[in-house]
Amino acid sequence: MRYVMKGGNPLVGEVVIGGAKNAALGILAAAIMTDETVVIDNLPDVRDINVLLEAIRDIGAVVERLDRHTVKINARCIGSVTVNNEFIKRIRASYYLLGALLGKYRRASVALPGGCNIGSRPIDQHLKGFRALGASTVVEYGMVNADAARLRGGHVYLDVVSVGATINIMLAAALADGSTIIENAAKEPHVVDVASMLNSMGANIKGAGTDVIRISGVSKLHGTEYSIIPDQIEAGTYMVAAAITKGDVTVRNVIPKHLEAITSKLMEMGCEISEFDDAVRVVAKNRMSHTKVKTLPYPGFPTDMQPQISVALALACGTSIVTESIFENRFKYMDELARMGANAKVEGNIAVIDGVGRFTGAEVCAPDLRAGAALVLAGLAADGCSVVEDVEYIMRGYECFVEKLHELGAEIRLVDTDKEIQKYKLSLIS
Ligand code: UD1
Repeated sequence: MRYVMKGGNPLVGEVVIGGAKNAALGILAAAIMTDETVVIDNLPDVRDINVLLEAIRDIGAVVERLDRHTVKINARCIGSVTVNNEFIKRIRASYYLLGALLGKYRRASVALPGGCNIGSRPIDQHLKGFRALGASTVVEYGMVNADAARLRGGHVYLDVVSVGATINIMLAAALADGSTIIENAAKEPHVVDVASMLNSMGANIKGAGTDVIRISGVSKLHGTEYSIIPDQIEAGTYMVAAAITKGDVTVRNVIPKHLEAITSKLMEMGCEISEFDDAVRVVAKNRMSHTKVKTLPYPGFPTDMQPQISVALALACGTSIVTESIFENRFKYMDELARMGANAKVEGNIAVIDGVGRFTGAEVCAPDLRAGAALVLAGLAADGCSVVEDVEYIMRGYECFVEKLHELGAEIRLVDTDKEIQKYKLSLIS
């Protein structure tokens, strides 16, 4: 599937942000750690989430969608600790089922995760954490197996700050015997959200949001009702969309504190930003100016916003430098962006971007989720029509992307065939 769009309209209006996908993935895994019923609200209706729900159902949990954004889960009847359905390999966060099942059943076997192709994505720190809790881990035949006769608290020092490893170890440790300390833990808002959800189920986790997390294992978790935090990256994407189209967009249902790194970069680039209790307004009147961006773990600039901000810098005055310090292969979209007229040189994990005055519409391919969204933003700022192919990637993480952009005044449509693209282009002429 592809998006076809005609650039040039400034985006104006309001957009409401959904629940955080990356928090939701950890929270859904946490939900299977009790035999009681869990109700989760503000769940984004995106592909990654629906795949994980399918996997949870596949191993025997009862999953009932109460409405588009609310799900009820009861995992009393889980019959298997092996997760290997055909879809699960496509999502990164399938690994959270390892921590959740290991914690609850002391055994788990999960297909090695896939996800976005943005560089090597080892899970050694997850496995190191499980081993510190007394589990043995083996990777064979494409599966990761973990089991523990006795799961006990342990001391884990993460060699790299990893969101996934922090959450996974927290999940397993919540039901281990005794206390666990995770040092050099990730501090991302979604780590805090998963900890809050586990605590609302009766876990005893302290320090989430700092780099030392202390978990006192409990013998059992109970049911809860929990509402997921807003998605920082979805919000940031619309903020850049406003900036790049010289628009005026109020992004609602956000926690402005979580957006500070993005807000301050956009302000440096010349945008006006107002913060409200649960909204931010981005106004961009003039051409933006260059800056430096380096991706870092939270509270640094998020790697998941690197392609979007780079696309904006490619249209800004002057030369910008973007350093990607989390994933080594995250500039693949630059070749696609060059087809729209961008002028950037990538050497290793650094992109030197000379801003150009305009982009011109082109046919490009989304190489992954966030770069895909960034290319759509580029298309919305370009002169003429653009086509972004492989938008299945984008659908993994953005709910109603086309509808929300359309509401803000973008000329964009989801299409499948060349004929539909031709029809769209003709409709623009008439
Ligand atoms: C999560 C997010 C992803 C985001 C990333 C960084 C989910 C589902 N995905 O991914 O959108 O881009 O955080 O904010 O939440 N590493 C190791 N060994 C490990 C684990 C990680 O070396 O065992 C390295 C990675 O290669 C990477 C860095 O640590 O260089 C950070 O990765 P991590 O925070 O784990 O990313 P994910 O949890 O996979």
